[in-house]
Amino acid sequence: MEDQIREIALRFFNPGNIESIKLFGRRVIITLQNAAEDSARTEALKQAVAALEGVDKVAVVYTAVKKVEKLAPKTDKYEVCGVKKIIGVASGKGGVGKSTTAVNLALALANLGLKTAIFDADIYGPSIPTMLGYEGVPPVSFDGKIFEAFDYRNVKSMSIGTLLDKSQPLIWRGAKACGAIEQLLTETNWGEVDVMVIDMPPGTGDIQITLSQKLDLDGVVIVSTPQDIALIDAVKGVNMFKRVDVPILGIVENMSYYICEKCGHRADIFGHEGAKKTAEEIGVDFLGEIPLHYAIRENADNGTPIVFAEPESPHTKAYEDIAAKVKDKLGL
Ligand SMILES: Nc1ncnc2c1ncn2[C@@H]1O[C@H](COP(=O)(O)OP(=O)(O)OP(=O)(O)O)[C@@H](O)[C@H]1O
Ligand SMILES: [Mg+2]
Repeated sequence: MEDQIREIALRFFNPGNIESIKLFGRRVIITLQNAAEDSARTEALKQAVAALEGVDKVAVVYTAVKKVEKLAPKTDKYEVCGVKKIIGVASGKGGVGKSTTAVNLALALANLGLKTAIFDADIYGPSIPTMLGYEGVPPVSFDGKIFEAFDYRNVKSMSIGTLLDKSQPLIWRGAKACGAIEQLLTETNWGEVDVMVIDMPPGTGDIQITLSQKLDLDGVVIVSTPQDIALIDAVKGVNMFKRVDVPILGIVENMSYYICEKCGHRADIFGHEGAKKTAEEIGVDFLGEIPLHYAIRENADNGTPIVFAEPESPHTKAYEDIAAKVKDKLGL
């Protein structure tokens, strides 16, 4: 029922404005946050929800910006030697192209002249080794203590996948994850790095919160697809990072539109500018859009991300534009 009501509410208001939907028997209370009061829209929303079976009464409540309760900073932060800035690439929802964006963003930052590293902290689905072309290659240690970072496609990298036992259940992995991530991050020889990109685990649970606190991130890029359902989770992600005081660098819209290879027609399969509008609504920057394109998927799957494989392509340019904004915001 709640999902049904949310779907209706999304016809009238942006995902960032829908604070909560509460059901009390046959009564529904929809709380909107930061939305401009609009009696016509409110009335239309009420009528649409009241038409649902099992609903008698609908109330719509407007609230101003909710002060989010900040979480106390962690004192035992991870110390990553030789790395100047660390940024996270995150998404509220899985499968939106977080890893593809993280890896291409890292390569684009390298194209801008920065010494770059990428760390794969996605305990649920580490995919950086595949995307950079070293799947199955074990990490090397010369002294039996410190791992050497992988050096593929112009970026230093390391993946939690090299330590995690994929046959273990996710819950077990989750509990061990933070320790394993700390070990791998702090016990890897990174050399000198201007900026490290972290492919974060998707979602906004305890693991993500603890990690964000301990990594002492200089900023985070949120990746979302344009659908409302993904954007709601993107907003949750933004709120989570705000709670732990991580600066939001901005939102990237991935799989933004599709260009037909045959006729060049552009199709906004999942709607147009959803992420841009949501970013405006919640007061964070919009960093840019990446189209849905087979060459992006194919190259990521083959271990040669598009920024590496097709340096002159418009897709590479799109990633470089985002990278330039990130570089600026980090003061690099
Ligand atoms: N812009 C794009 N165009 C075409 N394919 C894309 C694009 N972005 C991502 N993909 C493809 O979509 C799939 C999911 O992308 P990716 O693995 O980056 O998502 P993710 O958010 O990291 O997922 P997970 O939550 O599983 O870690 C991959 O096959 C990837 O190649
Ligand atoms: Mg991923």
